[in-house]
Amino acid sequence: MNAKRVLVAYGSRHGSTAGIADEIGKALRGDGIDAVVLPADEVTDVSDYDGVVLGGALYAGRWNGKARRCARRNADQLRRRPVWFFSSGPVDSTAEQHDIPPTPGVARRMKKIGAREHVTFGGAVTAETPGRIARSMVHHGKGGDFRDPARIQAWAHHIGKEVGTTP
Ligand SMILES: Cc1cc2nc3c(=O)[nH]c(=O)nc-3n(C[C@H](O)[C@H](O)[C@H](O)COP(=O)(O)O)c2cc1C
Repeated sequence: MNAKRVLVAYGSRHGSTAGIADEIGKALRGDGIDAVVLPADEVTDVSDYDGVVLGGALYAGRWNGKARRCARRNADQLRRRPVWFFSSGPVDSTAEQHDIPPTPGVARRMKKIGAREHVTFGGAVTAETPGRIARSMVHHGKGGDFRDPARIQAWAHHIGKEVGTTP
């Protein structure tokens, strides 16, 4: 039997959501799944995939535009396969402490395409993150990398298991 193919697409401004997508891709490949990781704005066709993971960074309470447009552009094909969404954002440990629901826009999009699940992962703002707000956050001790590789991998393996048992 051919390996299942999963697309992991991400909308990232400064790279930390891309890092989460890479981690998911690596874990899925460890489960024997042919995982392809792509920036969301490069996704033009998802019909080759048995499942799709789509993630976006949160900025000012909204999902990254590239992830939003990817979901909209591919809605018809996404509706026909299992889809999982994730968001990355909180620059503190809240995402590890309790489940953070999707923004209303993401929840609407999930409903439209019948996405199975959503999870929020902690994000990152470091001295390398460009921009005035990021600089000010780091300056005031409010930065840090709150991505939790173990939690990301566990979620990916859970997806791997579901894809593996989807006919
Ligand atoms: C200007 C700015 C606005 C942000 N707004 C939010 C927000 O509304 N909610 C949230 O959870 N995180 C917010 N964050 C944190 C980012 O989502 C976090 O840094 C994320 O890891 C960025 O992902 P990226 O590096 O892939 O762009 C914000 C960060 C910046 C710099």
